[in-house]
Amino acid sequence: MSRIFFVGATGKVGHRLLPQLIAQGHKVTALHRKPEQAEKLAAQGATPVQGDMMELTGSDYETLLKGHDTIIFSAGAAGSGKERTGKIDGETPPLLAKIGLEVGVKRFYLVSAFPESARNDNLGEGFEYYMKVKKEADAKLVKSALDWVIVRPGTLLDEEADNKVSLDYALTYGKVKRGNVANTLAALIAQPAITRQILELTDGDEAITDAIGRITTA
Ligand SMILES: NC(=O)c1ccc[n+]([C@@H]2O[C@H](COP(=O)([O-])OP(=O)(O)OC[C@H]3O[C@@H](n4cnc5c(N)ncnc54)[C@H](OP(=O)(O)O)[C@@H]3O)[C@@H](O)[C@H]2O)c1
Repeated sequence: MSRIFFVGATGKVGHRLLPQLIAQGHKVTALHRKPEQAEKLAAQGATPVQGDMMELTGSDYETLLKGHDTIIFSAGAAGSGKERTGKIDGETPPLLAKIGLEVGVKRFYLVSAFPESARNDNLGEGFEYYMKVKKEADAKLVKSALDWVIVRPGTLLDEEADNKVSLDYALTYGKVKRGNVANTLAALIAQPAITRQILELTDGDEAITDAIGRITTA
């Protein structure tokens, strides 16, 4: 049983992952920014804690992270501007890793982005900046002394899981159902032997359980 600090539990990946973490027997603290989200998170079995990443400081995180051994970060600024993207996608994961290490956290699961996402789609400067800071956050986390796993999903589809994926160290670009991302994260978290890995993820034709088993024994 892990004591998980979950950032992004109310998101489209996060809300699909949270019940699975509870079902695995973990104790989950869920950071949320809107007061009205607390009731649902508590009903799902998490301990809600309110806070906005745009405002939280290092010392706030030190207080919040105490007593946890695992961080899951599936949050994102979702194209809400450069300042928010820089803070949420870029600065917060390495800050959590640094402070987490100081207060006894052991593991960090980070949802990043597939490097070839939207190539040639001309999504503009904001998207390029998002990809840049996501990569910078990955680069900082891999230098951390924590046990980390970075998952890089392709473009997310708002669809439920069919549990068929491609999961590997390098893949050709593709899209992936958010349900499959949540289920893959749940399976990774249930398999702590997988550590210090960057894994790319798209929809595919291998069962998640088989993919996780293959990577565990790689
Ligand atoms: N979109 C794509 O195609 C794509 C592709 C690859 C990777 N990703 C990454 O996949 C991850 C999950 O995506 P998703 O679709 O689940 O995202 P999402 O639905 O937009 O969820 C984002 C989460 O972050 C939280 N959040 C945002 N700003 C916050 C703040 N200032 N303080 C506290 N919480 C905040 C949101 O809370 P609220 O409920 O309050 O909004 C929500 O829980 C993200 O890291 C994203 O960058 C996305």
